[in-house]
Amino acid sequence: MRTEEARPVRLKDYRPPDWLVETVELDVSLDSTATPVRAALTLRPNGSGAAPAPLVLDGDALNLRALKLDGAALPPEQFVATPDRLTIAQPPQRRFRLEIETVVDPSANTQLSGLYRSGAIYCTQCEAEGFRRITYFPDRPDVMAVYTTRIEAEKAEAPVLLANGNLVRSGDVPGTTRHFAVWHDPFPKPSYLFALVGGNLACVEDRFRTMSGREVTLRIYVEQGKERRCLYAMDALKRAMRWDETAFGREYDLDIFMIVAVSDFNMGAMENKGLNIFNDKYILASSETATDTDFERIEAVVAHEYFHNWTGNRITCRDWFQLCLKEGLTVFRDQEFSADQRSRAVERIGDVRGLRTHQFVEDAGPLAHPVRPAVYHEINNFYTATVYEKGAELVRMLRVLLGAENFRKGMDLYFSRHDGQAATVEQFVQCFADVSSTDLTQFMLWYSQAGTPEVVATGSYDARAKSYRLELAQSIPPTPGQPSKQPMVVPLAVSLVGREGRDLPLKLDDGRTVERGVLTLTKSVETFVFADVAEQPVASLNRGFSAPIKLSANLSADDLRFLAAHDADPFNRWQALQTLATRLLLDNTAASRASRPARHDPGLLDALGATLADGALEPAFVALALTLPGEAEIAREIGHDVDPDAVFAARAALRAAVGEYLAGPLFDHYRRLSESGPYRPDAASAGRRMLRNTCLDLLVATQQPEAISLAARQYQAADNMTDRMAALSALSLCDVPERAAALDDFYARYADDPLIVDKWLTLQATVPEPATLDRVRALTSHRAFSFANPNRVRALIHAFALANQKEFNRADGAGYDFIVETVLALDPKNPQLAARLVSALKNWRMLEPVRRERAEAALRRVATAPSLSPDVGDIVRRALAKD
Ligand code: BES
Ligand code: ZN
Repeated sequence: MRTEEARPVRLKDYRPPDWLVETVELDVSLDSTATPVRAALTLRPNGSGAAPAPLVLDGDALNLRALKLDGAALPPEQFVATPDRLTIAQPPQRRFRLEIETVVDPSANTQLSGLYRSGAIYCTQCEAEGFRRITYFPDRPDVMAVYTTRIEAEKAEAPVLLANGNLVRSGDVPGTTRHFAVWHDPFPKPSYLFALVGGNLACVEDRFRTMSGREVTLRIYVEQGKERRCLYAMDALKRAMRWDETAFGREYDLDIFMIVAVSDFNMGAMENKGLNIFNDKYILASSETATDTDFERIEAVVAHEYFHNWTGNRITCRDWFQLCLKEGLTVFRDQEFSADQRSRAVERIGDVRGLRTHQFVEDAGPLAHPVRPAVYHEINNFYTATVYEKGAELVRMLRVLLGAENFRKGMDLYFSRHDGQAATVEQFVQCFADVSSTDLTQFMLWYSQAGTPEVVATGSYDARAKSYRLELAQSIPPTPGQPSKQPMVVPLAVSLVGREGRDLPLKLDDGRTVERGVLTLTKSVETFVFADVAEQPVASLNRGFSAPIKLSANLSADDLRFLAAHDADPFNRWQALQTLATRLLLDNTAASRASRPARHDPGLLDALGATLADGALEPAFVALALTLPGEAEIAREIGHDVDPDAVFAARAALRAAVGEYLAGPLFDHYRRLSESGPYRPDAASAGRRMLRNTCLDLLVATQQPEAISLAARQYQAADNMTDRMAALSALSLCDVPERAAALDDFYARYADDPLIVDKWLTLQATVPEPATLDRVRALTSHRAFSFANPNRVRALIHAFALANQKEFNRADGAGYDFIVETVLALDPKNPQLAARLVSALKNWRMLEPVRRERAEAALRRVATAPSLSPDVGDIVRRALAKD
């Protein structure tokens, strides 16, 4: 294992590779502890005339068995092989063939990077730098090669053998109990997209006819017996394929597309060319086992990985600094897909909530970094909310700035200009500049400046002049390594909403028109004056969340209630209620800390009641409107000296107040929304269940016996996992006897199903009571739990650290101690998982002094532990840095 502090890698040091690889022939003979890997590479110098270049190949924990150059064994004095590097100082400066034999131990691979075993299945995970754990290779995304893979295995152990591309040949190995398969992928690809799988897998098959009429075979491979649970994922895949054709004009390019679901996986899923590998959590679903949220997630992840075939695979990244080029863009595409499949407004609100809880929080702490970082120590730590979610927002802003038509033209140009290449963010943005003749130089600052811009909007109406003046001021807070910033391009979708709720015409007094309702702020301070404004309006700003900023506007509580009731933009209707709730929660958190009585806001309660009563609104939207901002988001709004107990108390009190005040209508809706007929996972039915379960949750928040027994009854009577989980989840927050009974019942029902047991673990980890930490500790010895399986660890431990702010942040520091212990135990086995867990401590600086000191001490204990992985070392060093 690598333990030394890894080298810093800098964007400005990028150099094209000295050597290119034209073809790779791999021959992998699967064996549980000693798998020989024979790799034959055709290498050629990149460019001519330069000084003779040595050949340096990457490795990680490798074991070289044999090395041949153009068919002849290479004498030992002509190369140096260490576990992490193979160097040939003076290779011939021409095309040559290098044959490398290594041997790897899949069973000992607990990091789940490279070739490993998930249960009885052999599989690979190569992004970002896992291929070098299989063979020596220039393991960087700008080296693209054509791969042919021969896999051999025991027929009984691994009847199914898969790799990227098309099956060329397969058969028995004469005189043995083994067989083989040869796969060829005609598309040149970087090594991180390589994959192979071997195992006893069942398969669901379907077909898809592309827009140009080609037939594609679709296969999803899973553990035997789970085929029925793949049907939704298959349906989502076909919808995603069709959508990419209509929305982006992109069709699939191989004759077969395969997905394999495995139960041990560090991430959600991986887009390997023609052979996606998935965490089975994002494939398996049936009404009895999965919730509506699970179905929604499966649809999004299947689509995301499929969309990478164009944004990531056909056009890949030049280097890992460009990660947002594939991830931000592909998240944008999967968000748009979900918006089109379901409800655009509901999708947008959900995405913005996610952005605020994860990315804004990251951006406000010591791990803040630009969407395109300038330096990294460990690339695995940069698969972050900033690269993904903020990266997606930047693509979305391009569309806001240029309009849908030019945006599509820019995408088309990107696909045609860079197909088959390893590209950069500059090249991507240049396509949009070219099609729209727009200068996007200032826009590029979004990629290089970290931190969430804060925009202060001050509007005033001049009744006599019939004009509305909007002053906008932007500032970007300092972040590590970036003490001061330049103003950015902020596209603000705006409207002036008149008395009747209608959008008033927008005309600037200098004669400029406001194109597509978007004001573009480019300076620190800018004033826009609207002319011919017939009546006093209320400004609706940053509609649809057109820019990923923190906006504060001089809107009164009355203005916000007006927008909540009348704004034509559903996002801002939702936002108005959130703003009102946030103001109250901040006040009451402060009051709770100062032992002052809480403030009541009947206006907010009435506004929520009016939203609930508005039959024209989608149920899922109403549910989101009734959901208060989360504790992490409130904490980030407070920003410093945060007491998580006070945040929790303020939020719990407001939930209870809503439940009490609206008890009548909540009960009514609960009854009215009960579904008849069999469960269906579609957005409309899911939305009704969501609203009904939100009503239940608010009622249970009052702790009234009537509400508790309603939840207990729903738990028992539910005919689908959504309703059963919702009832159990509401109950789990209350200290009532019904809770333990229901939790025991739940485990007894589903003990055999690990993905459902994960839900059970999470529920217990998120109980906001002092006994929870001991319970979590005890559960680590439960037979259903294992530190070796990332899903189990995330369900129990990550859930405790990230979704139970109150108990994780116990004032006695015991929550932090537990995380430190777990991180140190996990690190030698699975550093990526350990690094994600230790990141839970990243916001230590915003805590009140007692907790802050304990959290800092916890981080220091990790930092000074011997033989930390580069992954964990990098996180704790940055989390503690003075900067
Ligand atoms: N390429 C990533 C998976 C990945 C990430 C592999 C980091 C290795 C290291 C994949 O496309 C991805 O982004 N997956 C997400 C889910 C997606 C829907 C955002 C994941 O795994 O969480
Ligand atoms: Zn991705």
